[in-house]
Amino acid sequence: MTVHFIGAGPGAADLITLRGRDLIAASPVCLYAGSLVPEALLSHCPPGCRIVNTAPLSLDEIMAEIAAADAAGHDVARLHSGDLSVWSAMGEQLRRLRAMGVAYDVTPGVPSFAAAAAALGAELTLPGVAQSVILTRTSGRASAMPPGETLANFAATGATLAIHLSIHILDQVVADLSPHYGADCPVAVVWRASWPDQRVVRATLSTLQTAIGAEMERTALILVGHAIGAEEFDESRLYAGDYDRRYRPVGTDPRFPEGTP
Ligand SMILES: C[S@@+](CC[C@H](N)C(=O)[O-])C[C@H]1O[C@@H](n2cnc3c(N)ncnc32)[C@H](O)[C@@H]1O
Repeated sequence: MTVHFIGAGPGAADLITLRGRDLIAASPVCLYAGSLVPEALLSHCPPGCRIVNTAPLSLDEIMAEIAAADAAGHDVARLHSGDLSVWSAMGEQLRRLRAMGVAYDVTPGVPSFAAAAAALGAELTLPGVAQSVILTRTSGRASAMPPGETLANFAATGATLAIHLSIHILDQVVADLSPHYGADCPVAVVWRASWPDQRVVRATLSTLQTAIGAEMERTALILVGHAIGAEEFDESRLYAGDYDRRYRPVGTDPRFPEGTP
């Protein structure tokens, strides 16, 4: 028996890996985090599958479901939104499974920051503008931020920020970032990236609140940085005509003689 943790993607039912889909289809039990995982994915469950929405359950109740599946020898497909490496609460489940001696594996999913960037049609790392993306959040009721992981500290790097779980304190986000990025810094908010009702607002730090108005939907990402919508940036050297490299040798670097495959 194995618990298959599967990244269910950002919302669109077809943004799941083939491996994730096939594991759902092969598992007699499916536990899904119903607050964000699209119900359409449940159509991949096999006939007779025990399907449980874990949104209203405690960790103990979730582990009891897994223990029951283990006793019956049934594999479990465990679905969380986006990718499992960030804000999935997978870590605490894995720790319990290790203590129980239950096998598990992890299948990655499309994270919401990638879906939001796709909605913008944007690369978040542009040469000479930003070469790092910081995935972060602000303190919430359930999780406080460790000291040092402040927006101001991250902003001091000038990297592109992908700020999760924070649309409800947008005023504070703008106030913390403006001194570092400047009032004219581009920002985009993407609600429900990849869902049919996806919405995008592009603005600057100084115009964002007016541009957004009274939007209440909380499933949103705030992307901030000078790479957002930039047109002034260097082209990558990698594809420059005179750049000698293993896969396109032009004869200037003895390490890559012309004709090497
Ligand atoms: C609990 S975290 C889950 C993150 C998820 N594991 C991931 O890989 O993106 C939920 C937050 O992720 C962001 N989020 C998740 N899905 C989203 C989507 N489709 N569009 C925009 N933001 C999304 C929002 O900031 C939301 O508050």
